[in-house]
Amino acid sequence: MSSIVVLISGRGSNMQALLDAGIPVAAVISNVTGAAGLAIAEQRGIATRVVPHKDYASRESFEEALAGQIDAFSPRLVALAGFMRVLGPGFVDGYRDRMLNIHPSLLPAFPGLNTHERALAEGVKLHGCTVHFVTADLDHGPIVAQAAVPVRRDDTAASLAQRVLKQEHVLYPRAVRWFLDGRLVIKRGTVNVKGNDAQFVFDDSA
Ligand code: GRF
Repeated sequence: MSSIVVLISGRGSNMQALLDAGIPVAAVISNVTGAAGLAIAEQRGIATRVVPHKDYASRESFEEALAGQIDAFSPRLVALAGFMRVLGPGFVDGYRDRMLNIHPSLLPAFPGLNTHERALAEGVKLHGCTVHFVTADLDHGPIVAQAAVPVRRDDTAASLAQRVLKQEHVLYPRAVRWFLDGRLVIKRGTVNVKGNDAQFVFDDSA
């Protein structure tokens, strides 16, 4: 089946961007009960599931339950979209080369949390977001596409986050579509797109 499962923990705006772009989403699964994105998915008639990590004694048992829910939909791809749990090597290995993440920085700069605050503190002049394949090395998998925005003198973490998020919503559906169309080629840890579509976006208009 040519569909994807999206994992979220919160607001779900990237998930929504995937739906708006017409990406076939079989289900949206959250580790957080009441995550706002679940209601959006339900309104659109998408199947939703909750696997609350707090209900499990270990990461392994949580991940086993999560994998069970994902696999019930037989997705071609798992898309992490604001999924805020670190995933262990066993789980990640089960979805090798078929799990993507969107991260709000130009990786390999600023893996982890609070990326916008850290970008401002470092005084970088370009910031952005990255879609990458998920590996056991947090926020370090093969890079599929990146979007860059300029950092403005008067930026706050919130204004920068907003400008980056706008690009996330452009970049993620594009990358997922490439995957579903069988156009992504991973070779020695780097990713190319068959047909040579631009794997970057630079938006200095905002
Ligand atoms: C996004 O900035 C995403 O890159 C990061 O967490 C945020 C989630 O936002 N991983 P949303 O839930 O998609 O609105």
